Amino acid sequence: MQLSVNGKAHELNDADPDMPLLWALRDLLGLVGAKYGCGVAQCGACTVWLDGAPVRSCQLPLAAISGREVTTIEGLGGDALHPVQEAWIAHDVAQCGYCQAGQIMSAAALLQRNPNPSSEDIEGAMAGNICRCGTYSRIVAAINTASKQFQGLSFYEVGQEATVSASDGEVSV
Ligand code: FES
Ligand code: FES
Repeated sequence: MQLSVNGKAHELNDADPDMPLLWALRDLLGLVGAKYGCGVAQCGACTVWLDGAPVRSCQLPLAAISGREVTTIEGLGGDALHPVQEAWIAHDVAQCGYCQAGQIMSAAALLQRNPNPSSEDIEGAMAGNICRCGTYSRIVAAINTASKQFQGLSFYEVGQEATVSASDGEVSV
């Protein structure tokens, strides 16, 4: 069975076709960014992309993805950080970190298809990603910051906007 992950082809000839993608990523390929949380497609910790769309890899058998492209947190930004990862760092989003790869994959998928999401869009896209540490407000702030870069503003400009707004008693990013 051939698996394409982050642009690289892998031969998994001995893998059980019923093996969930998450197992193959972590145990066979050593890509441990996606995490095992609930195992029943309810928490989002295992989120990766399949052909650019977020999926729960804990419930996706290898047989269902032959010939399709998988993207994990390790390959999200190529050789650099993805704008969502940069925004995550700028807002110091992570607490324990366990859910964060899945959160970032869902957030990045949202911005790929909708660079200027409303609060409702963000809430809808992120509803399936649970954070037991409660980092939700920082996640939303980071998505809004990354959204500005998707729309053409640099982080320097975004930072200036935040500084100006903060001096007026508001923080807009
Ligand atoms: S581990 Fe896959 S959704 Fe929870
Ligand atoms: S940062 Fe700890 S579960 Fe989300």
